[in-house]
Order: sequence, then C-alpha cells, then structure tokens
Amino acid sequence: MPTLAIIGAQWGDEGKGKITDALTAKADVVVRFQGGNNAGHTIQFGQKKYAFHLLPSGSLHPEKVNVLANGMVIDPLALLSEFRLLDREAISTKNILVSNRAHVVMPFHRDLDAFEEHQKLNRIGTTLKGIGPTYQDKIGRRGLRMVDFLNDGRFRRYLKETLPYVHRVLGDYLAKPYNENELFERMSGARQRLAQHIADTSLFLNQALEEGKKILFEGAQGTMLCLDHGTYPYVTSSSPTAASIPLGVGMAPKHINRVLAITKAYSTRVGEGPMVSQIEGPLEAHIRDVGHEFGTTTGRARRIGYFDAVALRHAHRINGFSHLAITLLDVLTGIHPLKIVVGYRHQGELLDAFPASTDVLEACEMVTIELPGFDEDISKVTTYEALPENAKAYVEKISALSNIPLGIVSVGPDRAQTLYLEDNLFEG
Ligand code: GDP
Ligand code: IMO
Ligand code: MG
Repeated sequence: MPTLAIIGAQWGDEGKGKITDALTAKADVVVRFQGGNNAGHTIQFGQKKYAFHLLPSGSLHPEKVNVLANGMVIDPLALLSEFRLLDREAISTKNILVSNRAHVVMPFHRDLDAFEEHQKLNRIGTTLKGIGPTYQDKIGRRGLRMVDFLNDGRFRRYLKETLPYVHRVLGDYLAKPYNENELFERMSGARQRLAQHIADTSLFLNQALEEGKKILFEGAQGTMLCLDHGTYPYVTSSSPTAASIPLGVGMAPKHINRVLAITKAYSTRVGEGPMVSQIEGPLEAHIRDVGHEFGTTTGRARRIGYFDAVALRHAHRINGFSHLAITLLDVLTGIHPLKIVVGYRHQGELLDAFPASTDVLEACEMVTIELPGFDEDISKVTTYEALPENAKAYVEKISALSNIPLGIVSVGPDRAQTLYLEDNLFEG
C-alpha cells in the first residue's frame, strides 16, 4: 500500500507541481487534498508549460486517476476552464474524479474575500479566490457540497438561503446584488460537465489501496502557511501538512508514512506576514529575476530570502519528512557566498524553536552561516554526482541542519531537470 505525500515545507511555490508531475510516472493515482485555486502549480517539459490551480499535477497523464478530494474547496467555473484546457490539448479528462463531499466556491465567495481584505487593518494579501470565505462557510455549517450542488432542489434552496445573508454582509460593497436565477443558470454548464466526475473518492481511494495501487498526495501551499502551525494570521485557511491528508481524503492516518518535503534552495513568500530570512537589494532583485519569482496565480512579485533552516526544522517536526526535494538550485549559480539562516535572535537571545508570536517574529534577526558558492551552469547536469562540489556541499548542509535525507535535487523547471538520490521514495 505505498503512498507518498508531496508537502510544501516553506511558504508555497516550492515546485510541488514540478515534482508531482515528475513522480506521476511512478504512481497510479494523484490526489489533491486541501486548498483550492489559490494554488498555482507549474509543470514544464520540452516547449510545453502548464499551470494548474485545481487539477492535480498528474492530469497530463490521462491514464492515471487524478482526484480532487473532499478536503478541497472547488470553484466549478475555474475547474471547467481547466477541463477545457485539457480538451484543447486533446488530453482525456475521463479519469478525473471530484469528491461529492468537497465544498463549492461560489462567485460571491470571491467578493467576500475581497471585502474581508478591504476591511482589515492587517491585510493578509490573499489570492482573492474566495478560499477563506468558503472554508468559513464549511465550518459554519452553511456551505454547499458537490453532492448538493448537483441536485436542482438543494442548489436552489442553498441560493435562496445564502444570497440574503451574502447581501447583508456585503451591503453597498457589491455594485449589483446577485440574482438567484441568473446564478443558477450561470452554473448550469459546470454542473453538467462535473456530474460525470463526481464520486465518493474516499471509497475509490481505499479500494485503490487494497489493490496495492501507488498513491501520490499533492499538497498545495506550504507548511508555513498552515492555519494551525504557520505564521497566523498570515496563513491560508486550510492545513497544507501531512496531517491534513487522512481527513482531506477519507483514509486512515496509518497509510501516510512517506512524506517528501519540497523546498526551494532559498526562500520566497507572497502576501503579507513575517519572514525573518527576507533580503532586500541587488541580491533580492537578482534571485527574483533569475528564478522568475512572480506568483503563478496572482502574478505578484514574490518576496525573497536566504534558505531558512529554522523554518524547515519547524516544518519537519510537524510533517515528519522522510526525504527532502530541493528545487531551484540552478538559480544560485554565481552567488558568493551562499548564506543559510541557522537561527533567530530575539532581544539578544538565540531562539531554539520557531516562535508563535507575530510580534516576536517581526523583532527577530536572522543568524546566518556562509558557504562558498559555485559558478557553473548546473541546469544540464543529469546526475547528483556531477554537480559542482560547492553545490553538493550546500544541499548537504541543508540536509544536515534539518536532519532529513536528500531525495531529489531539481536544477531547472523541466521534468527532465530532476536529479534522484533515492530511487524508491514511496518505500525507501
Ligand atoms: P508550486 O506552487 O509549489 O507548484 O510552485 P510554482 O509552480 O508556483 O512555482 C515554482 C516555479 O519554479 C515554477 O515556475 C516552476 O516552473 C519553477 N521551477 C520548479 N523547479 C525548478 C528548478 O529546479 N529550477 C528552476 N529554475 N525553476 C524551477
Ligand atoms: P501553491 O500551492 C504561495 C498565500 C497568499 C496569502 C495567504 C492566504 O501554489 O504553493 P489565501 O488566498 O489562501 O486565503 O491566501 O496564502 N498563498 C499562497 N502562497 N503559494 C500558494 O499556493 C498559495 N496559496 C495561498 O499569498 O499570503
Ligand atoms: Mg504555486
């Protein structure tokens, strides 16, 4: 019953899409278990480049089953446009399953997201995709699940009950109130197309386990954006950690024991919130430029920082990583020296754990070590051994500081630019 979880160890955009796509060849099923189209996962091979927001990154392999599980919140219109993208490429969507228990993101959830951001003194800098408000409705027991979305009577009743509430909250913020019939009609194409994909995905996945199928779980966002363990309140509204998988897919926790940490060779963050390792100036501009550090979903410039071993140790404690996948190492070519954040200093004291308080985090200074850099273009290197010694020393230092063995090093966005140090990440 081999399973492997792909988990972001930082603030998202670590290259989860690339690594999931690269590992899909070894899997039978790929599953998204939380989040929605706040995610933007990029896949590249040859001249082709795709960005998926809702579809699992195994979706370019139509012979594999790709699952959008119950822990997700799904915007049907956004999903429809991703289906159409595959249609245009003549890639079958037949094997894509959507949980009947996943919650539906409606157009007004995006308005509520924007309204909440607008009202706050401390904006979070959300992706404005309506993710937070949809999870709020789920917790508030007033949400809409796929199973009910497909039922005419249930969906109409939902709109009838919900729209007055939405209008009360948004008031004049809405240029024009929503009309029940219009909204019902607007959703009809998506409801029709989705009907053939909706299933009890927990039943399907447990059956797949029994048949010995290999399952890949694709996290969205990253551990430092976790609602419970991230830099609250500057976080997303779900938990992008390994602990979230059993609940988010309907499977026993004992099946989740291989967890691959995806981390960049440096740090990035989009949106607001503390980031002790952040750098500003020419090096920031250089890394943003070489690493194309602009959001896949919102196009915003990502903040840049040194690699943060304090954050990685925090993420490791929560996720129990079995291996590390270090991505974007190629971006560090020509940077001298290479710095790694190994500690946080607060009012003269060295902290040994990632602090909970935003105030403390904002007052922390980074403690760094320096390693020699490398000048070689490593984007064409095909084995780990062939990397320059200083590049190897750098990733090995990250592995030693976090006590997580190296599994993968990525040296470019293409599927082929992936160096494997461990052949069987599912069981090794
Ligand atoms: P995700 O959200 O974790 O899937 O990551 P994103 O796709 O949002 O952002 C990662 C970006 O880095 C994408 O543009 C990828 O194509 C790119 N990428 C992934 N791995 C590498 C790598 O090893 N080197 C370089 N140069 N780019 C990479
Ligand atoms: P992937 O899966 C990076 C960030 C937003 C904001 C905060 C809350 O591509 O790694 P939300 O819209 O979720 O309520 O926003 O979380 N955020 C991400 N940052 N990558 C993501 O996804 C993100 N999804 C949300 O920028 O700071
Ligand atoms: Mg992304």
